[in-house]
Amino acid sequence: MNKQEAEKRIEKLKEVIAEHRYNYHVLDKETMSDAALDSLKHELYGLEQEYPEFVTSDSPTQRVGGDPLPKFVKVTHARPMLSMEDVFEQSEFEAWQKRLEKVGGKKITELFCMPKLDGLAVSLVYTNGVLEVAATRGNGRVGENVTVNVKTIESIPLKLTGSNIPDRVEVRGEIYFPTDAFDELNQKLEKEGKPVFANPRNTAAGSIRQLDSKITASRGLAFVAWDLDGDFGQSTMEDEWKIMSTLGFKAVPESKLYNSVEEVEKHWQELQDKRDGLGYWVDGMVVKVNNSELYQSLGVVGKTPRGLVAWKFPAEEATTVIKDIKWTVGRTGALTPVAVVEPTWVGGTTVQHASLHNIDEIERLDVRVGDTVILYKAGDIIPKIKEVVAGLRPKDSEKTVPPNRCPVCESEVGRRAGEVALYCVNPRCFVQDREAILHAARAFEIDGLGPQTVAAMLENGLVVSPADLFTISADEIAPLEGFGKISANKLIEEIKQRKTISLPRFIAGLSIRNVGEQTGIDLANNFRSIQTLMSATLEELVQVDGIGAIVAQSVRAFFGEEHNQKLVQTYLENGVEIESYKVNASLQVLAGKSVVVTGTLPTLSRDEAKEKIRLAGGKASGSVSAKTDYLLAGEKAGSKLEKANELKVTVLSEEEFLSMIGEK
Ligand code: IVH
Repeated sequence: MNKQEAEKRIEKLKEVIAEHRYNYHVLDKETMSDAALDSLKHELYGLEQEYPEFVTSDSPTQRVGGDPLPKFVKVTHARPMLSMEDVFEQSEFEAWQKRLEKVGGKKITELFCMPKLDGLAVSLVYTNGVLEVAATRGNGRVGENVTVNVKTIESIPLKLTGSNIPDRVEVRGEIYFPTDAFDELNQKLEKEGKPVFANPRNTAAGSIRQLDSKITASRGLAFVAWDLDGDFGQSTMEDEWKIMSTLGFKAVPESKLYNSVEEVEKHWQELQDKRDGLGYWVDGMVVKVNNSELYQSLGVVGKTPRGLVAWKFPAEEATTVIKDIKWTVGRTGALTPVAVVEPTWVGGTTVQHASLHNIDEIERLDVRVGDTVILYKAGDIIPKIKEVVAGLRPKDSEKTVPPNRCPVCESEVGRRAGEVALYCVNPRCFVQDREAILHAARAFEIDGLGPQTVAAMLENGLVVSPADLFTISADEIAPLEGFGKISANKLIEEIKQRKTISLPRFIAGLSIRNVGEQTGIDLANNFRSIQTLMSATLEELVQVDGIGAIVAQSVRAFFGEEHNQKLVQTYLENGVEIESYKVNASLQVLAGKSVVVTGTLPTLSRDEAKEKIRLAGGKASGSVSAKTDYLLAGEKAGSKLEKANELKVTVLSEEEFLSMIGEK
């Protein structure tokens, strides 16, 4: 994306995020899931980091929460309630830590980890040990006074316990809906025939902003503390966490101090594994620099403190952009559209494809290339598209139309009576497609890629052409039948190792009719690069030794088709390297030379000898003439030897020939 495009994208993202945020925070209406909204915010944050000149004060990354509702009295926070930077992947977490060390100028290993509860933040101000004001976060600077309602929450002390309590103490933390209480509330509502609540966080927020505190009281909300303001002589986050417990709070459970990034990463994984059994909703882990002085000195960028990060758990939803819509042919001949998307992190894996089922689904969603979409994973191996983010559609986007020719074999496309799916009329299409991929895999010498695997990859849209083998990820094949994480990694590693290929093998692997290994060598010897071969005319092709009219025609026809040119191009774009066909030392020897083979050679068959001549850059000709450079002669050489002697052509024995081409 260039600067101008980034500016436009930033503008659009701001608009869309602002709209959904307003619906959510001010109108209490969820028009986009948290996960999808986070995903958009993350993209915006990334672009703003890259182009800080486009950061404006009205950017959603610069504001926290929503504006206070008019029905509550406003409270200005003594210290703004900030927000946190989200990271989603281990690499991003590690980058955060490295950045800290750079800014802080020293090694930072003491990190305090707390679960990130999915609730709503409140500030509790205690004067002389007594709860005086409880306020929501609001926009971070000004919140709403919800003291009466908050007082109904049993886990919030109305008076601090312990001695030597400073005059003013502020505790911040999260009001949340315990999972049990939430389920109970919904069961009750269901019995009463009333609509149930979908989202515990929204319900908690709604419960706190009730004008009738009896309703709040009836909901069974709870509170955990994650921040302490007040002089108790503390110097670390761990101290604060312990002190809050002595004051009568439940400090965020499952919290712990670690001394290395590795330990933090392990804890993140463990926390994720047990998240369902915790009794409250957790959407990630907060990691905070433990030393308070250091934390302060690291400062704040925009509205997020540097010394703190939220490492989110994989969300089942994320946003991404559609790069292409491809059509694959399934076992039954049905054409299935597959969306190729900008790689994104969803449900714990990096995703590059999304299924679209059939043309009806495309029409229902009106998915187009260039659209920003919400992906979701529902246990399927390939995520689905939930919806298009309307506000982010490029102006020049075009409606997706199905192909009228099969993208694999160019046969006609039709519909079967009463079915939505489009079919390729060629019954062998799927098999051909699969065979072409297997054939390419053999040319690249990729081990461990059998017909079953290729069929599954095709049917799930992971590969459309053999060139796609080089972009699939282990994450994408791990869920296929017969695979697991380890075997998937192994196969991907194997494929990676095979990215470099010789020109003859590459040509032979293209599945050009009548072109096998030998012809691959002949063509490579003559044209020396794939580009030259692709643009060779029929006349040039027939002139090649060992290539007749039929082969020449197949080659010409093959490269005459756009999708075959695209195949070669995609191979190269996907990182395949065709070894440059510079004629190596031994090859040079016979470059441009014409050699005739005659008689019975001691070890080589005549065909083998000819192959060696071609591989060495020479021409294997049939008859001796003035243009002949060498005669390779064995037993019973006969008339060709006589002619060679007559014309003073150099005669070679097999041994001399082999040493000449460097094989002896
Ligand atoms: S520390 C600068 N610790 O996450 C904010 N926040 O996305 C310092 N949250 O506003 C927050 N669990 O509402 C902290 N253990 C935890 C948390 C936590 C949930 C919320 C909090 C904050 C939001 C930021």
